Amino acid sequence: MNKLTKCLINKDKSCVPVWFMRQAGRYLPEFQKIRSQNPDFIKLCLNSELSAEITLQPIKRYDLDAAIIFSDILMLPFGLGQEVKFEKNLGPKLSKIEINKLLDVKENKFINKLDQVYKAIEKTRKELDKSKSLIGFVGAPWTLLIYMFDLKKNKKDLNIVNFNFNKDEVKSLLQKITEFLCIHIKKQKEAGADIIQIFDSWAGLLPEEHLKQFCYAPNYEIVKFCRKINIPSICFPKGIGYRYKEFMEIVKPDCLNIDSDINPNWAKENLNNVCLQGGMDPKLLLNNEGKLFDEVDKYLNIFNNRAYIFNLGHGLLPETNPEVLKSVIEKVRSYK
Ligand code: CP3
Repeated sequence: MNKLTKCLINKDKSCVPVWFMRQAGRYLPEFQKIRSQNPDFIKLCLNSELSAEITLQPIKRYDLDAAIIFSDILMLPFGLGQEVKFEKNLGPKLSKIEINKLLDVKENKFINKLDQVYKAIEKTRKELDKSKSLIGFVGAPWTLLIYMFDLKKNKKDLNIVNFNFNKDEVKSLLQKITEFLCIHIKKQKEAGADIIQIFDSWAGLLPEEHLKQFCYAPNYEIVKFCRKINIPSICFPKGIGYRYKEFMEIVKPDCLNIDSDINPNWAKENLNNVCLQGGMDPKLLLNNEGKLFDEVDKYLNIFNNRAYIFNLGHGLLPETNPEVLKSVIEKVRSYK
């Protein structure tokens, strides 16, 4: 059993495994080089050779316990037939959703469209040392719906006033997405992923009365499925504040990633019987090293007696200095 699995499954406290969300990404010059030669982001995700190479870039540079496959949560709507484009500074743009067409998509067609993602996982697993985990991932249904219905016009404005949560077709869609996320997870596992992280990045935007149906219930279905096929799960319902406790009690994942708004002392007291991950604000990596190291220590000290995986409260920022990340990893390694 590798370190991350021991922590997730056995709730082992004897070491603190470390990896970072967005560790394969824009802050690395070696990623930028490949990216500049590959302007179409989706095509890059479907190039299994390059995707495996990008996945391994941070592993070559740093002493990390896990690789996360270079792909995107939006590969799911892509697999269901929506076009996905990434425009500079605008974020992802999807073609207008055609619900009936989408509900008709068959499993085989979906798997064929995403075949290269699974090939990339196979390639990565072959090259990755056995002591390290390979993390597969999905976006949770609500976070995907935000993009699929274009509910976020830009980084700040959310356009859900006119979104009809109660429409039958929205419910059918929620079911379809959950079902196909499970297919996507099973294929990632068969290709060699040994942990699944479920990103609900926009859970915090859900109106309270819809949290159960649009966040807890689908996350629970996915976690239940992961347990059935024997792969540990990490949930990240970002932005739901003290409702993390309710989420944990209902969804029961193997691990919970906390965001930077969660007080780690509160988390330690209120989120029991679960491995915890992350929490530290990624912006701190842009700060002077004194404050940064104090914060690294703070998280390590608070979670000293818990199964804890070092990570952040969100993905690494593109402006992060790769050398600063290196010093954080060394700091975590030198603890205990
Ligand atoms: O290193 C890793 O973490 C693995 C790869 C990964 C990417 N996206 C690559 C990527 C993972 C796990 C994701 C998850 C993802 N994608 C989420 C959930 C986590 C989160 O950040 O909240 C979301 C919401 C997306 C959707 C998405 N993809 C957005 C909003 C954007 C553009 C803006 C941004 O934050 O970068 C992307 C593009 C994307 N996905 C990039 C990378 C490396 C940047 C591509 C580029 O412009 O070069």
